[in-house]
Amino acid sequence: MTLQSLDSFCSWLAATSVSQVIQTVGWVIPAVQTVHILAVAAVVTSALMIDLRLLGIRGTEQPIAAIARRFLPFIWWPLPILLATGAILIIAEPARALENPVFILKMGLLLAAAGITLACQIPLQRNPAFWEISAGRKRVARLIAVASMPLWVAIICAGRWIAYVQGT
Ligand code: HEM
Repeated sequence: MTLQSLDSFCSWLAATSVSQVIQTVGWVIPAVQTVHILAVAAVVTSALMIDLRLLGIRGTEQPIAAIARRFLPFIWWPLPILLATGAILIIAEPARALENPVFILKMGLLLAAAGITLACQIPLQRNPAFWEISAGRKRVARLIAVASMPLWVAIICAGRWIAYVQGT
């Protein structure tokens, strides 16, 4: 999509009645932002619990698979909520996000964070003891944890930063 057609798409979307309603009904944006942030809290605290266990700092009395089983749903289930609330915020002001390099960066970081979460989860589904079998695998699990938290924090920073960076 060229910049000009993205611009036309954003102008068209901003002029639709759905966008107009979101823009003019005063409580919609703050309510949607509140839900977005609550979902962020669920995702990031759950990722933190798993990362602390992978690092061997917390929850060591339970196997990694048990901690993952408990907290992974709180990473995956809020994501559709984030997607839906994010979409409402985009519909309200399309150019603010879609033409913003920080928003693109945030989506890239989100893909990376989802990928790293899957890299931890998929082996556990085949073998619940996967990350605890050898010193090498424990090291890889620790690397996953060390990469995961900065990614989630970077996504939060990028989310906040969208408001302060001009679109292209
Ligand atoms: C799933 C796809 C997601 C979409 C489409 C999305 C979209 C958005 C949009 C459009 C905004 C408004 C930015 C603005 O206009 O200032 C926003 C804000 C934000 N997002 Fe997301 N987001 C998503 C996921 C996430 C995730 C996974 C996180 C963090 C783990 C996150 C954290 C934030 C934060 C902290 C803000 C700032 C909220 C505020 O200042 O009130 N978002 N997001």
